[in-house]
Amino acid sequence: LENGLARTPPMGWLAWERFRCNIDCDNDPYNCIKESLFMTMADLMVSEGYAAVGYNVVSLDDCWMASERDANGKLQPDPIRFPSGLKALSDYLHAKGLLFGMYEDYGTFTCAGYPGILGSLELDAQTFAEWGVDYVKLDGCNADPADMDQGYPEFGQYLNATGRPMIYSCSWPYYQIINGMTPDWASIASTCNLWRNYDDIQDSWASVASIIDYYGDNQDEIIPNAGPGHWNDPDMLIIGNFGLSYEQSKAQMAMWAILAAPLLMSNDLRNMDPQNKDILQNIDIIAVNQDTLGLQGRRLSKENGIEIWSRQINPTQGTDYSYSLAVLNRRTDGTPYDVSITLSTLGMTFAGGYSVTDLFTSVDLGDFAPDDTFEVRVNPTSVVMLRCNLITSTA
Ligand code: DGJ
Repeated sequence: LENGLARTPPMGWLAWERFRCNIDCDNDPYNCIKESLFMTMADLMVSEGYAAVGYNVVSLDDCWMASERDANGKLQPDPIRFPSGLKALSDYLHAKGLLFGMYEDYGTFTCAGYPGILGSLELDAQTFAEWGVDYVKLDGCNADPADMDQGYPEFGQYLNATGRPMIYSCSWPYYQIINGMTPDWASIASTCNLWRNYDDIQDSWASVASIIDYYGDNQDEIIPNAGPGHWNDPDMLIIGNFGLSYEQSKAQMAMWAILAAPLLMSNDLRNMDPQNKDILQNIDIIAVNQDTLGLQGRRLSKENGIEIWSRQINPTQGTDYSYSLAVLNRRTDGTPYDVSITLSTLGMTFAGGYSVTDLFTSVDLGDFAPDDTFEVRVNPTSVVMLRCNLITSTA
């Protein structure tokens, strides 16, 4: 969507994967969906350094609403859990330099059964603008996927008509794909700033791995749709939760950078292991994710459980690019695996060669001509992430 927003993939924090639809504030006040949870996460985004490296959206997901619209048909937050109202929450986030993310659903009800936008598209867009919303995730439960080709653009027009810039995140292609439809990618890319293609992420390596497989197996169809202002969204970062080891967490971060994916953490920022925080705040990997060329990376090979992924990045010279490479070890045989790399076999043929750095260890591996060979050692269910900058005479 060419609305001037999301020129690089959005970054922030989204409630769903970690906090779900926990509305039981009587028994679980520390973890339930209520305004103080979002305020606390906003505080920590700033105080713990996430905002400084680019994470700036704090977003609601399902289950923020009261069970009914008000007497005028307007959406309203649950009065017990959001007693100050959403304009107040929005003001709180804005005062911290953060953006306010909203969740709604295109259908009659959200996935969790709260009021959907169907029948109230214009009013809801206006309400979001009035509340100071900066980012809208529009889910697609309880709707006919065949209506979405018309409905998602229509809501986008109402968002645009408010005059308030709002990033528009769509679940439209996902619901069409699971219903056997072929998405109209051109329309999706011109309507949405980001969109979901595949299943919800769950707190496990199996889930992360299945998403990586989906993006590899379908890359020829989905890569061309991504670029500045319009991104494929493989779902939230789950680093810092329960399901991923340290090595697997590195793998998710590296792969989301290669995929030019939105970096939307869904974790408990009150309880972050320093190692996980370092992964999430690795500025060199974030720089790959946020590379301004906006070219989504691809899987070049998959053999014996070893995958090589590559993404073209800045700086460039003529038709030559710098690259980021992720060497992903999917093997579970328990021993680190040595992978030998010859850059020319990966399409990297710049005669001046490439200067190669490991982005997790910050070790400079050296300068390599296209036909030189070097080795990297990759731990099981982990990754080695490299940056390979063109060596140019002016560099
Ligand atoms: C389905 C979406 O894909 C999830 O990310 C989350 O928003 C849930 N719905 C909420 O019900």
